[in-house]
Amino acid sequence: MDGRDLVRSVKAVGSGGTAQGWRTVRAAWRRRRADAAALPQRGAERARVPGPLQGVEPEPGGGVVRFTRSELRITVTAGGAVFWGWDGAGPEPSYALAGSSPEPDPRAILEPDKEGGWRVVSERVTVAVSLHGAVEVRTPGGVVLRRDLPPRWWEPVGGGAARWMQRSEVAADARFFGLGGRATGPRLRDGTYRLWNTDPGRPFGPEDDPLYITMPVQMVVADAATHLVFHDTTWDGTVTLREGEEGAGSGHDRAGTCELRMDGGPLRCWVMVGTPARVLHAWASLTGAPALPPAWALGHHHARWGFGSEQEVRRIVAGYEERGLPLDAVHLDIDHYDAHQVFTVDTQHFPKLPLLAEELRRDGVHLVSIVDPAVKAEPGNAVYDSGLDADAFVRDASGQLVRGVVWPGESVHPDFTHARVREWWGGLYEERLALGFAGFWHDMNEPTSFTAFGESTLPRSARHSLEGRGGDHREAHNVYALGMARAAYEGLRELVPQERPFLFSRSGWAGMQRYGGTWSGDVATGWPGLRASLSLVLGLGLCGVPYSGPDVGGFDGSPSPELYLRWFQLGAYLPLFRTHASLRAGRREPWEFGPEVLEHARVALVERRRLAPYFMTLAHLARRTGAPYVRPLWWGAPMDRALRDCEDAFLLGDCLLVAPVLDHGADRRAVQLPRGRWYDTATEEAYEGPAQVLVDAPLSRVPVLARAGSVIPVRGADGGLELEAWAPARGRTGGGLVVADAGDGWDEPEIERYVTRWEGRRVVVLRDGEDGRTEPSCPVRMRGLGV
Ligand code: NOJ
Repeated sequence: MDGRDLVRSVKAVGSGGTAQGWRTVRAAWRRRRADAAALPQRGAERARVPGPLQGVEPEPGGGVVRFTRSELRITVTAGGAVFWGWDGAGPEPSYALAGSSPEPDPRAILEPDKEGGWRVVSERVTVAVSLHGAVEVRTPGGVVLRRDLPPRWWEPVGGGAARWMQRSEVAADARFFGLGGRATGPRLRDGTYRLWNTDPGRPFGPEDDPLYITMPVQMVVADAATHLVFHDTTWDGTVTLREGEEGAGSGHDRAGTCELRMDGGPLRCWVMVGTPARVLHAWASLTGAPALPPAWALGHHHARWGFGSEQEVRRIVAGYEERGLPLDAVHLDIDHYDAHQVFTVDTQHFPKLPLLAEELRRDGVHLVSIVDPAVKAEPGNAVYDSGLDADAFVRDASGQLVRGVVWPGESVHPDFTHARVREWWGGLYEERLALGFAGFWHDMNEPTSFTAFGESTLPRSARHSLEGRGGDHREAHNVYALGMARAAYEGLRELVPQERPFLFSRSGWAGMQRYGGTWSGDVATGWPGLRASLSLVLGLGLCGVPYSGPDVGGFDGSPSPELYLRWFQLGAYLPLFRTHASLRAGRREPWEFGPEVLEHARVALVERRRLAPYFMTLAHLARRTGAPYVRPLWWGAPMDRALRDCEDAFLLGDCLLVAPVLDHGADRRAVQLPRGRWYDTATEEAYEGPAQVLVDAPLSRVPVLARAGSVIPVRGADGGLELEAWAPARGRTGGGLVVADAGDGWDEPEIERYVTRWEGRRVVVLRDGEDGRTEPSCPVRMRGLGV
């Protein structure tokens, strides 16, 4: 820790470096020492490996393989996902699973493998176990996708949580993705990635890791197949990745490697094999369908830390209106709280929030409230008092409340790993709803507590319920925000059963998509930050979290007009499209960057609104299939090496390819195209993939290409649904899906299927229904016919 950090922490407690500040620093230092002393001392440790295989015991879906010093349970489940757990670990209890573990697949059988090993054979995958406990994941054709070497445990001689390590090899051509929200990705290059949700405490760039959302979920893409592996352990750990190398000509291949080290928790994992789409479908079946945002949440959101008053909110909303800029939501940050205390309002500056909310709602603008978990530890503060009554706050081993320092000053934290606490917390959203808020933005929930020394979170020795099992913060930390999201989601379902909750959260863990989405946190203003924004959205999508987006313009400082515009143009094609910045940063309204930027930002906003039905369709498809809206270019062709290495463009659903401008001064850019014909949507020029092409990217727009044959639902000039169809290449066909839903309730609109094909000299678009093919009931606009 250097002096700057010290000063920062002193300032963070609002003391400006005074004697009071130093007292705070000293107290923090004492807390840290006390924390270390309160944890069980590890002392001497004994290393253990499974030892030689002793025998097997078949079970439905697989069986148990016994070794002299451990045992391994393997179960293939009905959805095709495979579970295995060492030392008697089963799939439950788990924070990641949406319900109980899926049923075993009765067709999977345990049978002898070569060289004395055993294997479980199923339709999509074979899992083979060697005599010493190496585990291989093979395709049905026998190609090895992953080989886990026998694990190794280190157990404290005096008892306590065992640390463990699992080394694996993957194909030489494999690429790693995932591990939560990583600014360094989306392709995870050689390095060590920590699994510990972390507020970096300052605006982050691509070099900062870990960030707010980490999860032990890896998607590994190789020629032979894609697989997703999830180590279901919430503890702190690291993943060290090394990509392999293919031997050129007569050289040997070097396998890729992955080394996972965990500080505790069961050694158990899930593996899914297939195409990227199949793998994510299996993942969503296991961990839960992504929550469906209400239609308005797929529009444009404007936030700011420091609106400061209702008048300012009105001024901004009027600014959008006067300039004809679509706006769907405004987010109020902590400055609208009374003294930064959650579930309160600064009534001096926000005297009539319900009225403001109502007025805005009439103009189609929804209010979203920030919600922080820290509660000011002050008797008389209603949230604190009711939390004490509910015995809701995290305590230490001696039963004392664990106190931290967050925006309201000395604070306590609810223990979201307890059902009773979640219920209490969920009920508090009633106050927000009565104020007129329609959505919720969870912040500071890694959880963050400002400290002068060590990590800015709760002490590792802090006690948590962990659903009654009991444990400490080392185990609960990574699922803290997940529990908070669950509390809010379930509370809102009770309070407003007729509406889909809208909530997004800075931190989270595997399964968080069940409750909502996330945003990229405090991304640093600068071109590297812009690139990092895309990396986060892509990486999270591959971990099953499809709804996210960055703070357009970056969190700090003042972006140049060009950078702001390029960020805005990217944001317009990401699920969460939000402008936001820090209290001390420059403004982020589109009109603050000159008339040229305003004009181009308007085009982006209008296009986003035009694409609203497409975004809604993607949201429904994400919920039903687990496929993210924003997908890497290799989504449909993971064997295409050039696509696999392409990180600066993405597919938006099946129909569009978006190539954002991520570099200063660019007015053209190279785009790597997947197979097939693609039209530049601005010029209708056609390109044939696979190829790398140069396309124009003037300041007025970023390149967006449409797949030939696709049918895209859009909003017509009259606000009704329209289909935009792109001509298939001659002799080919195409199609698209539409889920018509402009609401916020629970109706399940059906998926409409459309096909495009040439009939003589014209292209026809037909709806594919149970009674055969019929004319679409909404207007169709054909494009790309000039080629
Ligand atoms: C940190 C969040 O990341 C940021 O978006 C927010 O503005 C500040 N906290 C203040 O609430």
